[in-house]
Amino acid sequence: TTAGLVDQYGRVATDLRVSLTDRCNLRCTYCMPAEGLAWLPNSLVLTDDEVIRLVRVAVERLGVDEVRFTGGEPLIRPGLTKIVTAAAELSPRPRLSLTTNGIGLDKLARPLRDAGLDRVNVSLDTLDAERFDRLTHRRRLPDVLAGLAAAQAAGLAPVKINSVLMRDINEDEAPALLRFALAEGYQLRFIEQMPLDAQHAWDRIRMVTAKEILSTLEAEFTLLPDPAERGGAPAETWLVDGFTGSDGRPAKVGVIGSVTRPFCGDCDRTRLTADGQVRNCLFAREESDLRGALRGGADDEEIARRWRTAMWAKRAGHGIDDPTFLQPARPMSAIGG
Ligand code: GTP
Ligand code: 5AD
Ligand code: SF4
Repeated sequence: TTAGLVDQYGRVATDLRVSLTDRCNLRCTYCMPAEGLAWLPNSLVLTDDEVIRLVRVAVERLGVDEVRFTGGEPLIRPGLTKIVTAAAELSPRPRLSLTTNGIGLDKLARPLRDAGLDRVNVSLDTLDAERFDRLTHRRRLPDVLAGLAAAQAAGLAPVKINSVLMRDINEDEAPALLRFALAEGYQLRFIEQMPLDAQHAWDRIRMVTAKEILSTLEAEFTLLPDPAERGGAPAETWLVDGFTGSDGRPAKVGVIGSVTRPFCGDCDRTRLTADGQVRNCLFAREESDLRGALRGGADDEEIARRWRTAMWAKRAGHGIDDPTFLQPARPMSAIGG
């Protein structure tokens, strides 16, 4: 059967996000502490073949038509190219994308494109090298910029940039980041910081909101409504008047207002963690163990059945505004970005 991933509210998940590792070569302050975290032991991380099998079940039996690889940092997974190659051979062929910090993309953009990857989103919160070092605890800004350029050259289009704005840290850089993206032909999206950090230091009062971001941009740019369908996309997009994108069409900028402008009602995502747990939401309290099923000898239909059951229980929204809100037990680096 091909019954899809439907929940009680009628949403259908067709977009699978697969975390390939919880490890990372940066230490962004809004994500993890400088000393890193207690990483998953290798024995609990899905093997390449296990990842490929679960992606195949999602595509062949559950109606998934888009697969995004995330982490931690997915480029540090040795089997990434092999996994992308296998995903691109599935039928119907899913759209394939990657969310990365860009380190190593200078070398991997071309091989990944050849393996079948369609798009990349690269995280970049500042263009100032010293600020980058403070924000990520690593001196890697040139690697990220080289990665972006290589992705563009390899045709992984549109290359999108994700920027998390933080109060008194990089909030002043929004216009400079947009100028950079417009000049280079990248599609920039600003992100509201969410309570998903390992340190539990997120503070709503300090969060830079979508509204603030837009009014800062409008001081320098004219933003016009984007006529394109939003679908289940987290980003609200605007056309930047007077600028053209790398595709020759009007340039866009996006804002992902996960906290103040939630899009949970249109969410079309299902997630798989690096250790083989299905999560029906970034903020889910429960996970469903597919690794155990897989290693216990379950057949494809049994795995599909468990996946459907996990998604049926998806809650209506993230609940960040509820007085009883609790951050998920695992941080974003372990859930998958
Ligand atoms: P495309 O629009 O297809 O390029 O991808 P995307 O924006 O969904 O993916 P990306 O991995 O670049 O995610 C960007 C940001 O969107 C993340 O940092 C999150 O802030 C937000 N986001 C992604 N998935 C979810 C989700 O399921 N729920 C919420 N609330 N936010 C999400
Ligand atoms: N809130 C919002 N975005 C976050 N990211 C990582 N942690 C958070 C957070 N707490 C972003 C990264 C990356 C994307 C996958 O998620 O910067 O671009
Ligand atoms: Fe790594 Fe991404 Fe977390 Fe930064 S946000 S430390 S790049 S996993």
